[in-house]
This record gives sequence, C-alpha cells and structure tokens, in this order.
Amino acid sequence: MTVNSIGVVGAGQMGNGIAHVMSLAGFDVVLNDISEDALKRAIDLISKNMDRQVSREKITQDERDQAMARIVITQDLPQVAQTDLIIEAATEQETIKQKIFDSLLPHLAENTILTSNTSSISITRLASRTDRPEKFMGFHFMNPVPVMQLVELIRGIATDKQTYETCLGVVEKLGKTAASAEDFPAFIVNRILMPMINEAVYTLYEGVGNVNSIDQSMKLGANHPMGPLELADFIGLDTCLAIMNVLHDGLADTKYRPCPLLTKYVEAGWLGRKTQRGFYDYRGETPVPTR
Ligand code: CAA
Repeated sequence: MTVNSIGVVGAGQMGNGIAHVMSLAGFDVVLNDISEDALKRAIDLISKNMDRQVSREKITQDERDQAMARIVITQDLPQVAQTDLIIEAATEQETIKQKIFDSLLPHLAENTILTSNTSSISITRLASRTDRPEKFMGFHFMNPVPVMQLVELIRGIATDKQTYETCLGVVEKLGKTAASAEDFPAFIVNRILMPMINEAVYTLYEGVGNVNSIDQSMKLGANHPMGPLELADFIGLDTCLAIMNVLHDGLADTKYRPCPLLTKYVEAGWLGRKTQRGFYDYRGETPVPTR
C-alpha cells in the first residue's frame, strides 16, 4: 500500500516532532489537537526547529518552505480520518487513546492504517477495540524525534504482514531505522531503559550518590549522552512512573517496583523539564540538582 498522507493526533512533544519529520520526508501531514494553543505552539516549534536545520545547512530554505506548506493543522478529528496512516500521539493514558480511536472509527477510509506512538500500552488491546486489528500497529518514536534514529514497530497479535511492511516503508522513507518488537509490556527500549532510570532513582533514594554523582557516573563512566536522572527529567517523571507501573502490573515481577522517591516527585508535581522542576530545578539559568 502506498502512503502519501499522515494524520497525527496530538500536537505535544512527540506529535510535533512526528509532523516535523514526516513533512520533511515528503508526506502530507494533518496535525490534530483538541487545543488551539497546542497547535499554534507546535507549528511555531516546528518552524523554529526547521529554521535551525536551515542555518546548520542540514536542509535548504526551499525544503523547509515546502515541508511547512505540507502541514495542515486542525481541531477537527474527522479531518485526520481520511489520511493513509494515522499516528496517535496523545497523552499516555489508555482511556484518552481509546476515546480518540472510538471517535475516528466512523470516519475512517477503508484502507487507513491505525497506529499508536504509545511507549508501553498493549497494542493488541488497543487494536481489539477497533474495526481493523489487522491494520493496527505500534509506531513508537524516540524523543527528540528529529534527532533520534530509531522507530520501534510493534505488531499486535492480529497485525498483518502488509501493514507491517507499509509502516517499515514509511520509516525507511524518513531515513530512520526500525526495530521490530513483539507486543509485551513497554516493548524493547523502555523495557530496558526504564528499569535503569528507576535504579538510578533507587541509588539516589538509598544515598549511594547524589544527583550530580549519579549522572556524572553514567555520562563519563558509561558514555551515555545524558545522565539517567537528567534523562528522566527530559522524558517526564510522570511518564517514567507510568511505564514502570505498566511493567510492574504487566509482568507481575517485583523487580519492576517503582522507587518511592520517583512516586514522591510525581506527587509533588515535580515532573521534570516540563514543569521546570524534577531531579533538577530549571527555573534559573543553569539546572540545579534538587538533591
Ligand atoms: N528538536 C530538534 N532538534 C534537536 C532537539 C529537539 N528537541 N534537541 C536537540 N536537537 C538537535 C540540535 O539542534 C543539534 O543539532 P546539530 O547537530 O545540527 O547541531 C543536535 O540535536 C544536538 O543537540 P545539542 O548540541 O543541543 O545537544 P546535545 O549534543 O547535548 O544533544 C540530545 C542533545 C540529542 C538530546 C542528547 O543529549 C541525547 O541524545 N540525549 C538522550 C536522548 C534519549 O535518550 N532519548 C530517548 C528517550 S526515551 C524515549 O523517547 C522513549 C520513551 O518512550 C520514553
């Protein structure tokens, strides 16, 4: 199946990055959000990020202008439904995702492929509540989307070969690399990454190290581009906790129990960069460790 148009539901951190890379790769993009403000912020950010790519000579001004012209924004969800491939990138809550798919179903074109950018929710379960589980997949980008090379493609139990191959073709057109994952809690990246972040929080909780020494250790001792606590702030501590809970509930193994200190930060509303406070305080000029 040929994919020319992409519908992106949710214009937050992930949705705007997905619209960015899809439009640059030549796809027509319909970007949807319930919030007009979120759509305006997304377009501003995409434009700013593409301007930076032009100034670094990664893309030409002409490519930037053409890509921007390929993005249509809308608050009207049914407008997304006629695209060839839909990527749901809304908040990581199953009830919200469910509601979006329910609203899309009556308006979908016959061959439209439905996907979710979920980082941990069961693809098989989401698919089973639609009219096309065979045309449903996990299409999981990493943050920041324009920079990270990987896309995880997750097949639900019913996903057919044509759907997988079509999605693989889209990833290749983006110039990114796909990793194929089976549909088990948190798939591959987060199954490995989140327990590491959770362990870093335990290391802090038990006083083995402070925020600085833990992050320095992993940056300089294991060559990670960001320390695990800095990365947790970047991802969002609520998202990290939600994924740990999916692992804990889904695999029923105590090795995945979320660290009480992670829960405490989330309960305080200290969710990382997006709220300006997490394991670091971002309100000043340079981030200051909170422990
Ligand atoms: N959007 C677009 N471009 C961005 C960007 C963004 N949000 N952030 C950085 N960039 C670009 C910069 O413009 C720069 O481009 P050039 O090479 O053209 O100059 C390049 O990325 C490098 O950026 P910086 O020099 O500012 O900073 P850096 O070298 O410290 O890199 C980083 C920043 C790429 C974010 C790097 O720190 C990194 O790789 N961190 C780890 C990120 C990571 O692990 N992501 C996965 C999170 S897990 C996930 O996403 C899955 C999930 O479900 C939770």
